[in-house]
Amino acid sequence: MQGSFQYLIIGNGRVARHMKHYLALLNLPALHWHRQYSLDDLHVKLTHSTHVLLLINDDAIVDFHQQYLANDNHLCLHFSGSLLCTSIIGAHPLMTFAHELYSLATYQSIPFILDEKAPEFTCILPGLNNPHARIKAAQKAKYHALCVMAGNFSCLLWQKLFKTLENEFNINANYAKPYLTQITENLLKNPDSILTGPLVRGDKKTIQRNLQALKADPFHLIYDSFVACYQTLERSENDEHL
Ligand SMILES: NC(=O)c1ccc[n+]([C@@H]2O[C@H](COP(=O)([O-])OP(=O)(O)OC[C@H]3O[C@@H](n4cnc5c(N)ncnc54)[C@H](OP(=O)(O)O)[C@@H]3O)[C@@H](O)[C@H]2O)c1
Repeated sequence: MQGSFQYLIIGNGRVARHMKHYLALLNLPALHWHRQYSLDDLHVKLTHSTHVLLLINDDAIVDFHQQYLANDNHLCLHFSGSLLCTSIIGAHPLMTFAHELYSLATYQSIPFILDEKAPEFTCILPGLNNPHARIKAAQKAKYHALCVMAGNFSCLLWQKLFKTLENEFNINANYAKPYLTQITENLLKNPDSILTGPLVRGDKKTIQRNLQALKADPFHLIYDSFVACYQTLERSENDEHL
């Protein structure tokens, strides 16, 4: 198997760096190209590759494929969680990739969510043994919207707390970290019963005070829409029990 495939990673961003590192940790053959290299170099590398990982901005994937890869027989993959494209196979790693690289065990634990009609995992990502599942085309946009909300939007909330503690209240942001650690642990252990706070208790005056305190802050919109969302969820749960 080792000699029968050759990856070509395209892109020089976060995921490209992580995938390059993951494949290197496993001693899997991988070439690398990004747009600082010449197009001649791309064509040479393409002739030596079997599997092309298009790890570039979602919005650039289809055009790049049409321009440089449409007329050849490489197996092309993208890692976007929301893009649907018949000629490029979607394999979304359900993970966040920032600047720091991870251990082999972390990479091996990352689940890949494949397009429903994608070939076998071992054909599209040979040499890897990651957990994987499939998603219907019609569900992909919602799946990705949920990942973005849970992963990215929650980071915005934590960044806001850390920064405001330090910059406005003169409190070391590290003081919030045990809170974050415990919330994460509780969430992992028992996701259904983790929620505390004024929304669950129905402390309406506290909610009003919180909203008032955020009046001139862009996060007022977030707090307000979370209250509205929570109330809608509660109403639909109550309706179900009637
Ligand atoms: N980061 C994550 O946590 C994460 C998680 C799951 C899936 N993904 C997916 O992984 C893919 C890559 O994301 P990323 O986070 O690595 O993005 P990123 O860090 O922003 O890097 C994007 C890369 O795409 C290149 N690029 C943009 N337009 C291009 C074009 N027209 N032609 C050639 N190269 C182009 C950029 O080149 P320059 O450096 O020259 O600008 C850069 O190297 C995306 O499909 C994303 O949805 C990301």
